[in-house]
Amino acid sequence: MLSQKVVGKLNEHINLEFYSSNLYLQMSAWCEIKGLDGCAAFLRLQAREELGHMHKLFKYVYETGSLPVLGDIAAPPVEYVSISDLFNKVYDHECHITREINALLNASAKEGDLSTVNFLQWYVAEQHEEEHRIQQVLDKIRIIGESDTGVFFIDRAVGGMIRK
Ligand code: FEO
Repeated sequence: MLSQKVVGKLNEHINLEFYSSNLYLQMSAWCEIKGLDGCAAFLRLQAREELGHMHKLFKYVYETGSLPVLGDIAAPPVEYVSISDLFNKVYDHECHITREINALLNASAKEGDLSTVNFLQWYVAEQHEEEHRIQQVLDKIRIIGESDTGVFFIDRAVGGMIRK
């Protein structure tokens, strides 16, 4: 049995994961249009993973006898200046999600809701992994550089990072 406060915050986070999925799917379209197949595939996979995060929360809420509620989801940005601009925005977004997960976990702990605290540990570990993965992409962009040929090699390197 979850408190109403925790249910409200979990529902807010369900929407945030949905937004993350839409954000990365929209970013993948920008990459496709620019001929960056590797980056597009990487972001499509990221979008699918975010949907998985959303479904995991959705299931947790109804399994505890509460009602998951979907709200409005904002439209993501469409245009990016460069590949580094795009991935810097991915990184900033992941840091934002990490802060939100931490706040959700702290709020659950304050309510004495140890089940939710335990459930959210998976998200804490996942955020660590995602921030690290995007940092690796940014490192590759910095090392290779964004000349015309550099962008070709960045795309190949990012495509090669896709988890099988
Ligand atoms: Fe589900 Fe990348 O946060």
